[in-house]
Amino acid sequence: MRFLLPGRLLAPAALVAAVLVAGLAAADDKPATPLGTWMQQHFSHPILDGNVDFAKMQQDFQLLASKAPSADYANWQGLAGAGATAAGNKDLAGVKKSCKPCHDAYKKKYIAEFPTKPFP
Ligand code: HEC
Repeated sequence: MRFLLPGRLLAPAALVAAVLVAGLAAADDKPATPLGTWMQQHFSHPILDGNVDFAKMQQDFQLLASKAPSADYANWQGLAGAGATAAGNKDLAGVKKSCKPCHDAYKKKYIAEFPTKPFP
């Protein structure tokens, strides 16, 4: 057991990294909606391929920010705006951090309310 260095494995940074990798590893599952397919193509694939064009990603986040699904999604613009800011700063860690808060807040709701809504 002690050869597994459990203390190290449970360090918060390692846990966060594991969770992030798990989220991105699921990126080839078929998304539930057209928005999910767009995210896979514009966000997950470039990140996983290590091929991020920050200027393009900033535009994509700005487009996303401008398309809040309804007035019910009050934090949408700010959440997407955080990704746009990170991409504008060529901050890959910040870009990756911007995904989860919006998914936690809105993914379930969006899939339930807009299963076939075209995006963009
Ligand atoms: C402003 C909100 C918002 C931001 C920011 C956001 N997403 Fe999403 N994302 C959603 C919503 C809503 C869905 C649900 C639609 C679906 O699953 O088809 C989704 C679904 C997805 C999906 C398809 C389902 C899945 O989990 O495989 C992928 C892939 C994805 N997002 C990747 C990302 C990545 C990577 C980032 C960050 C670089 C990101 N998203 C940032 C709102 C957001």
